[in-house]
Amino acid sequence: MEIPFAESWKIKMVELIKKSTREEREQWLKDAHYNVFMLPSSAVYIDCLTDSGTGAMSDRQWAAMMTGDESYAGARSFYELRDVITRLTGFEYVIPTHQGRAAENVLFSHLVKAGDIVPGNSHFDTTKGHIEARKAAAVDCTVDEAKDTQLEVPFKGNVDLKKLEAVLEKDADKVPFIIVTITNNTAGGQPVSMENLRGVRALADKYGKRVVFDSARFAENAYFIKMREPEFKDWTIKEIVREMFSLADAMTMSSKKDGLVNMGGFIATKWEDIYEGAKKYEIPFEGFLTYGGMNGRDMAALAVGLDENTEFDMLDTRIKQVEYLAKKLDEYGIPYQRPVGGHAVFIDADKVLDRIPKEEFPAERLAIELYLEAGVRGCEIGYLLADRDPVTRENRFNGNDFLRLCICRRTYTNNHMDVIAAALKNVYDRRHEITRGVKITWEAELLRHFTVQLELLG
Ligand code: F0G
Repeated sequence: MEIPFAESWKIKMVELIKKSTREEREQWLKDAHYNVFMLPSSAVYIDCLTDSGTGAMSDRQWAAMMTGDESYAGARSFYELRDVITRLTGFEYVIPTHQGRAAENVLFSHLVKAGDIVPGNSHFDTTKGHIEARKAAAVDCTVDEAKDTQLEVPFKGNVDLKKLEAVLEKDADKVPFIIVTITNNTAGGQPVSMENLRGVRALADKYGKRVVFDSARFAENAYFIKMREPEFKDWTIKEIVREMFSLADAMTMSSKKDGLVNMGGFIATKWEDIYEGAKKYEIPFEGFLTYGGMNGRDMAALAVGLDENTEFDMLDTRIKQVEYLAKKLDEYGIPYQRPVGGHAVFIDADKVLDRIPKEEFPAERLAIELYLEAGVRGCEIGYLLADRDPVTRENRFNGNDFLRLCICRRTYTNNHMDVIAAALKNVYDRRHEITRGVKITWEAELLRHFTVQLELLG
């Protein structure tokens, strides 16, 4: 008999979670203005809101925390972290920040000014927010295949090089850098191929531009390159990571994902001028150069996390769990962004709740139904998250409308995956009865989906 696949870790500590009744959930959701971000976590049974800062640390990481150096300046934990980052990426200069968006804030304060254009592949919402808040434009150059959720192509996160070149040809003087998000979260945790990264590098060189990687899930991206790009099948993850970053000038990082820690971020670069420019904003926004919003112990845990998560077995365990959930959805015929990505399943809500008009935010309604069904919390990555156009103030309905179900790293078992799948199936089976969505009763100007207040229609 073939030995089945199993996790590359065992469990040493557990946290209790609680089920609830449908009546309780109805009341809690009403109190939360039908926005799942506003639910207390005690009201959630299985939390798939995000894979950000929600993973389980290893015993080695917890042990490293005890050795953290909390010195204000020159902490040993900083140098340990810097050395790991330099070893993995080749980048010599490292600036710690309290999380990914803080890295964006510090770096973009130096690099982005009003009137600029920053092309990339489906900029994450905070990335886009930091660009637009500076009165610059984020131009999405993702390949068109990403929009067709049923199309099976290996690298749906890629940059469309023709679109990118069109932007550079027309407006090169306005482009401070190109940003590539690995993996492409908004398009469904979809990877970007090494071939594509090389293509971006070549265009950047042709037009004299720099390339920044938004690297939150860089290790998962490297895993997909190994599995799907024949040239790299015998490379280690660490070798692939090094090759990927050799094609970039700088990176922003949310360490809360592939860094396997609960909080943290950083900027890293090979260029002294970028480092010197960013430094000026680091101190007022984040803190001194050797801690930047992070505790010494957290930097110590991150150094171990980055090392651990760039090993094949860790990534294989993680991504196979996401695939396990996706296979269940295949059995039930539930449409999602195919092939499934690295950190989440992205349910194609437009296709599931096809009677709900766009203006009533189908994915948000699906998030509500899934929560009511079994206390499973997902997150809308769709028309609400897309915000309004900053000029016309119209809703942006041109992307996909997803319900994202994130899988936290090393946190839930496949039994939890079975619960998520069964709950979704129940909602899917009664999808034709769900004909109305939600109405916005209050929204913030920027990044509205976190705090939006909604009314349930019908
Ligand atoms: N870039 C990407 C690709 C991200 O997915 C995120 C966060 C950030 C930047 C910002 O990092 O949260 O540390 O400030 N994504 C989380 C998510 C919030 O749920 O996808 P942060």
